[in-house]
Amino acid sequence: MTNDITAHTQLVGLIGWPVGHSISPRMHNAAFNASNLDWCYVPLAVPDDPPERLAEAIHGLRALSFRGANVTVPHKQSVIQYLDELTDAAQTIGAVNTIIVQKDGVLVGDNTDARGFIADLLANGMDPSRKRVLVLGAGGSARAVVTGLAEMNVNAIMLANRTVSKAEELTSAVHERYPDIDIEVVNLPGDVSDLDADLIVNCTSVGMEPDSHNMPWNRDIPFQAKHFVYDLVYNPSPTLLVRFASECGAHAVNGKGMLVWQGALAFECWTGHPGPVDVMKASIGD
Ligand code: ATR
Repeated sequence: MTNDITAHTQLVGLIGWPVGHSISPRMHNAAFNASNLDWCYVPLAVPDDPPERLAEAIHGLRALSFRGANVTVPHKQSVIQYLDELTDAAQTIGAVNTIIVQKDGVLVGDNTDARGFIADLLANGMDPSRKRVLVLGAGGSARAVVTGLAEMNVNAIMLANRTVSKAEELTSAVHERYPDIDIEVVNLPGDVSDLDADLIVNCTSVGMEPDSHNMPWNRDIPFQAKHFVYDLVYNPSPTLLVRFASECGAHAVNGKGMLVWQGALAFECWTGHPGPVDVMKASIGD
């Protein structure tokens, strides 16, 4: 699949290190083609050493009249200092995954991960409002997930992490913005035996290639049909956690849908057109 490059082609890209494994270029270029937009999405490998490379890259977006960019590991937090404005979502999550270059050159940082997660949950028939949610992990993606859940007025969140202090830090940060949300911090895996949760979300990296033979869950605690298990990990597909949960009769999905939705929302930020979710999903396969 190739997009024709013309003298008018508008550019966006993915800033990260490394970026070679990313499926975002394929997904976005398929979306531009399907939407008849003369746009192109390119990988932009920006090393984190020396640190000034990131500043140069961000200034370069403006200098080269890029319309925007996605930002991934390891720059999602460090990029903030080079941007002019942040949306509420980016401020709350404390990380940027989407930059919009406005016509006046102002660089706006947004984060579509929380909205993307919720959009995919809803698309899968799970409305988290007033539900009890068990979140595994307390890193960057957990922060986006918990922010999305807080916006949806969940009943309560149990936050389970191997390093309990990180879960406590995340709880304090979320409480600054959502003081009323009920969050209980527990130790992963030790204290996760009470399955009084409707929705279980894996935000740890356990189970991700090449760690595909592991899962962040104790096999002695079977899921039940009433549980909805969402694994942010999508490589491999299915993950061991998704396989185990499905075998137990639970509804289980991986994080590919979130990847697509966060991309569709970024697409809309840049182009003003809704991202063609089905095209984007089809472009990255199962
Ligand atoms: P991301 O941006 O994908 O969230 P991250 O911020 O590095 O990545 O967070 C990784 C998460 O996976 C953390 O919650 C981490 O737990 P710790 O805070 O204790 O490090 C969790 N994690 C990674 N490897 C793990 C393992 N082997 N067992 C349990 N949790 C693990």
